[in-house]
Amino acid sequence: MIWQRTLSLLLICLLLSAIGLDSGCTEQSRHDVLAEIFDGVPPVGQQSPPPRPYVRHPRRPPPYTPPPPILIKVKPYKAAFQIDWKTLLRKLPKDAVGGIDWVKAIETGVIKPKNSIDPKHPQPNPVLPLDVHLHPAGLPLFEVTYPHKAHTEWLACTNCHTRIFQMKAGADKMTMKEIFNGKFCGECHGKVSFDPTTACPRCHRKLAGPS
Ligand code: HEC
Ligand code: HEC
Ligand code: HEC
Repeated sequence: MIWQRTLSLLLICLLLSAIGLDSGCTEQSRHDVLAEIFDGVPPVGQQSPPPRPYVRHPRRPPPYTPPPPILIKVKPYKAAFQIDWKTLLRKLPKDAVGGIDWVKAIETGVIKPKNSIDPKHPQPNPVLPLDVHLHPAGLPLFEVTYPHKAHTEWLACTNCHTRIFQMKAGADKMTMKEIFNGKFCGECHGKVSFDPTTACPRCHRKLAGPS
């Protein structure tokens, strides 16, 4: 049979080439063949480097863990709502119409206003004990007593001089109408200080009658 002969011939050839390959395969030729096919084949006689460890990176960053909260120690303080305002209000002296008489509050020592909220300027304001008497023409009963003392306990000279008032008694021509409209004494009285509409005798002392 022809195919049987061919097969046996093929087997012999394979056997012979296997023997030939085995005996002819040196380290060098092995290396050459391998280097032809693969990258990084070490030269003959050298060990291949140990495999690099395989690092598997996470596919998304790890979830955010917030840092522990910083605890600040707060000194206990007297908050405005802890102050008993009603009791304090009852201690303050009142004027004829029930408003607070701030002048008497200083005189009696119930309050002691700071000279300044700026600690670098603790000097007291100079208190000027000077009364200015103003005489509206033909109305002796309505003589005005302007007390510098009561004002300079709260205010600096420059609050009034010389934008509002000249430093000369009688220099400013004032009328009650202008005062009610917020000019002269009305820049403060009726706004931050007692109301001129209800306190005539505090400025016109003769209206209060003999004391
Ligand atoms: C709240 C306002 C006010 C303040 C603050 C004030 N004055 Fe006067 N001063 C007056 C008025 C009002 C007159 C009278 C002006 C007029 O009649 O035209 C006057 C008048 C004067 C006169 C003239 C007195 C006279 O008899 O002619 C002098 C001096 C004076 N002031 C000095 C001062 C000094 C110094 C200070 C600060 C320590 C001061 N004043 C703070 C309102 C003020
Ligand atoms: C904050 C102080 C103050 C008070 C409060 C006040 N006056 Fe006067 N009054 C004055 C001054 C200042 C003048 C002008 C004085 C001058 O320069 O001749 C004046 C003037 C007057 C005059 C003279 C005419 C005129 O209109 O100027 C009359 C009247 C008068 N006042 C009535 C009153 C009556 C009434 C009240 C109360 C409802 C009152 N005053 C409250 C400060 C005051
Ligand atoms: C810059 C602001 C200011 C001006 C202007 C001013 N005053 Fe006063 N006055 C005050 C303050 C503040 C007080 C004290 C607090 C209060 O009584 O409300 C006061 C208090 C007074 C007192 C009370 C004194 C006492 O012994 O009770 C009289 C009187 C007075 N002022 C008159 C006048 C007259 C008159 C004028 C105008 C010629 C005038 N003031 C202008 C701010 C002012």
